[in-house]
Amino acid sequence: MAKFNVALIGCGRISTTHLRAILNHDQEIRLVSVCDLVKERAELIARKYVFFAQELGIQTEEPVSYVNYKEMLEKENIDICSLCTESGYHAKISIDCLKKGYHVLVEKPMALSLIDVDNMIKIAQEKNLKLGVCFQNRYNPTIQRLRQAVIEKRFGKVFGITARTLWNRNQDYYRKSNWRGTWALDGGCLMNQCIHNIDLLQWMAPSEIQSIYGQVRNFLHPYNETEDYASIIVHFKDGSIGNIEGTVNVYPKNMEETLTVLGEKGTVVIGGVALNKILFWNFSDQEDSLEEIQQQCNEEITNVYGNGHSRVYKDFITSIKNNSRLLIDGVEAKKSLQIILMAYQSQKENKPVLYHQDLQININDFKGKLKLN
Ligand SMILES: NC(=O)c1ccc[n+]([C@@H]2O[C@H](COP(=O)([O-])OP(=O)(O)OC[C@H]3O[C@@H](n4cnc5c(N)ncnc54)[C@H](O)[C@@H]3O)[C@@H](O)[C@H]2O)c1
Repeated sequence: MAKFNVALIGCGRISTTHLRAILNHDQEIRLVSVCDLVKERAELIARKYVFFAQELGIQTEEPVSYVNYKEMLEKENIDICSLCTESGYHAKISIDCLKKGYHVLVEKPMALSLIDVDNMIKIAQEKNLKLGVCFQNRYNPTIQRLRQAVIEKRFGKVFGITARTLWNRNQDYYRKSNWRGTWALDGGCLMNQCIHNIDLLQWMAPSEIQSIYGQVRNFLHPYNETEDYASIIVHFKDGSIGNIEGTVNVYPKNMEETLTVLGEKGTVVIGGVALNKILFWNFSDQEDSLEEIQQQCNEEITNVYGNGHSRVYKDFITSIKNNSRLLIDGVEAKKSLQIILMAYQSQKENKPVLYHQDLQININDFKGKLKLN
């Protein structure tokens, strides 16, 4: 069967993770072209693809390098566009790719405004194309197992879910890429670092969101426009409560990323560098012990991105082949974005923001208008 042709747009930090993920599915996909505004970055990533392929004993041609993605979309024979540019460009580039008739796999966050998200979803649906978002931790065996326990109602009544992301990002990190910590292209720690865990919190939740109350601050990063600490209370319609604490201020380095689910008949805590370890697992049904579950689900990882990108691609390929629904399509990925934008709005209004389906919040509305200290 012919392989799907992938084009990669944005050849920065995360792009090498995509190279390896693509090569892990060498029988089904291949990278045909890469694009970055900075020519040398595109060329380097093209060469790295060949180098990584050789390491795996895979024969492949070097992808063609571009600096203009529109030219690439015109010239190349593409099936899938993988988007790894700064977050603020995701919506525009996704829409251009979808309009050309290509499936889109975009890095998180899928966009920074809800109107953009709705447009992306609409165009993908109209064109019958896949729009997937890289929330790779959802595929972790730990998280899959927790989700299964939720679906099987092993917790009984869930009353509290807590997502804590207590990390450190110092001035060096922000100096290296000037788009980080801006409203136009990034958002703050919620949008960049905490969004994975926020996605998981809402995925484990027993019901829809009723309202969000957010306290959002910038304590230690005066050179950034956006937040470095946030505390959010999520009221779910069934009365249960979600707690989100996220920061990039932890002294002296990353300390914790945990997801805790508390129910009347069960308690689970997932942790590890990328939610890849089960720390606590106890259910009244005694179906499985902590040790068993750790043996089955815990996995080693080499960096904070975890092992999930390869699984993201697997799901994406399968969903194109079978025309099946992606685990994380636009509709799913919108949910964590809604929580974050509602938290910003709540900070602005200093009161809880009620959820409704047609809520429209644009991150650019907060530039210069959100008091964070
Ligand atoms: N899933 C994850 O765990 C994860 C991890 C890291 C980053 N990300 C996301 O990936 C995205 C990129 O992050 P990064 O750290 O790799 O950023 P980066 O700054 O290292 O790379 C972004 C690249 O995109 C290029 N670019 C910008 N506009 C372009 C355009 N029009 N055409 C072609 N190239 C363009 C830039 O020149 C730059 O090289 C962000 O949205 C980030 O949130 C996700």
